[in-house]
Amino acid sequence: MLTGPAIVRAQSRWRAQPYSLGVASGDPAPDGFVIWTRLAPAPLEPHGGMPIKAIPATWEVAADEGFRSIVARGATEARPELAHSIHVEVAGLAPDRPYFYRFEASGERSPVGRARTFPILASAPRQLRFGMAGCQDWQAGFYTAYRHLAGEELAFVFHYGDYIYEYGPDGDPVRAHVGDVLMSLDDYRRRYALYKSDADLQRAHAAHPFFVTFDDHEVRNNWAGDTEREDHAPPDVFRLRRQSAFQAWYEHMPVRRGQWPNGSALQLYRGARFGNLARFDFLDTRQFRTPQPCGDGYKPACAGVNSGNAHIISAGEEAWVNRNLRLGDARWNVLAQQVMMMLLDWRKTSMDGPRKLLNLDSWAGYEIQRKRVLARMRGLNNVVVLTGDEHTNYAGLLHDRDRPVAVEFVGTSISSDGNGEDSPAWASRVLGNNPELKFINNQRGYLTCDVSPDEWRSNFMVVDRVSTPGGQLSKRATFAVTRGEPALHFA
Ligand SMILES: [Fe+2]
Repeated sequence: MLTGPAIVRAQSRWRAQPYSLGVASGDPAPDGFVIWTRLAPAPLEPHGGMPIKAIPATWEVAADEGFRSIVARGATEARPELAHSIHVEVAGLAPDRPYFYRFEASGERSPVGRARTFPILASAPRQLRFGMAGCQDWQAGFYTAYRHLAGEELAFVFHYGDYIYEYGPDGDPVRAHVGDVLMSLDDYRRRYALYKSDADLQRAHAAHPFFVTFDDHEVRNNWAGDTEREDHAPPDVFRLRRQSAFQAWYEHMPVRRGQWPNGSALQLYRGARFGNLARFDFLDTRQFRTPQPCGDGYKPACAGVNSGNAHIISAGEEAWVNRNLRLGDARWNVLAQQVMMMLLDWRKTSMDGPRKLLNLDSWAGYEIQRKRVLARMRGLNNVVVLTGDEHTNYAGLLHDRDRPVAVEFVGTSISSDGNGEDSPAWASRVLGNNPELKFINNQRGYLTCDVSPDEWRSNFMVVDRVSTPGGQLSKRATFAVTRGEPALHFA
């Protein structure tokens, strides 16, 4: 009876439940993962409706969903400098098993999230199943695909970016953005709060740990290093906006202290290894790239495409990828990244002229480095490239000097570009122009990948609509890859 009044008083401190943006986990390792939440009883108000002071909070990790067997707990605080977000790097857990986590602040408990540790590096797992998703324009549709993704049995989800879109309200959106185009830290925070208020997105985060990256829309459309072309800000001015965008990204993502924003820089690329089964290199194809050649867009190649100085990943990142590809410590090498690596001809109609059209914002605009990276894959016969950005599903082959050296799976979008269609009018022409391309589907959804020591399977999961809630899920296609042979088999 003594504790009764205290609990009532504590709970009354919240005018609304503070976990309005859900919980999340990320960057799983054999001994732990990050757990995340943000206290925001009024998520679209300044400071999420929180007082501008630090709020103490506690966290617990349990072996069971009912929290009878608590294996780790601790105290932390939610600070206003970080939008009252909480990041805890949980360590000391057992490998290769599920865990459950929750937070408590001022008498109010969070929903329960589920995470999973990786197997130890020295292990030889027989099976891995993970998901991949991204490109979730709020205005273009509902996150029904995330609702289905939450129900999958997965070790983790790779997010290839465009978690938010920076634009102001569209003309005729499915759901409207709140606020104008993003510029200040508060703008970016409020946009993350809007997106993360979605119940289906919250379900996916609560169900699986994520490895998140970013692409362009977390900052500004098609930004490239210190350059952006939408608002023509000088580089030193643009870096200030990027600093705000990066801080808000860090605040809202379940990432480790290694991804702490350092001025206008942020260490995004990082790796993970699932026993000896698969090594994942999560790339950063935005922060260090030189500006897109030929003024960006879909255009015929200009001289800049073959400039030896042009690069889409930094020299240090390229050296890191090269080294990882040659380590030989995993059955599969995975480059999990943002923009297409295949160099495709994008002429879609007979009106498109006599010359190949390249997507200059993709690796195709950076041909010398693209060739160098592909040459490093020669003879490995175990490389899979995972890509986002295109808002369309693709599967194809990557070539080094006319020989396939890797496969590339391009995931569609969760919502961006709306309902779409199975086979767009231009699909047969693009397939005909590009023999290395094997599959096109322009519906919304996500991928699941089943990885075993000798075979990789990618499942293209699509929903029949995102313009209204309740879209139905189906498996549109599965492609299998045999280790030792860079080829795609329709399964
Ligand atoms: Fe996108």
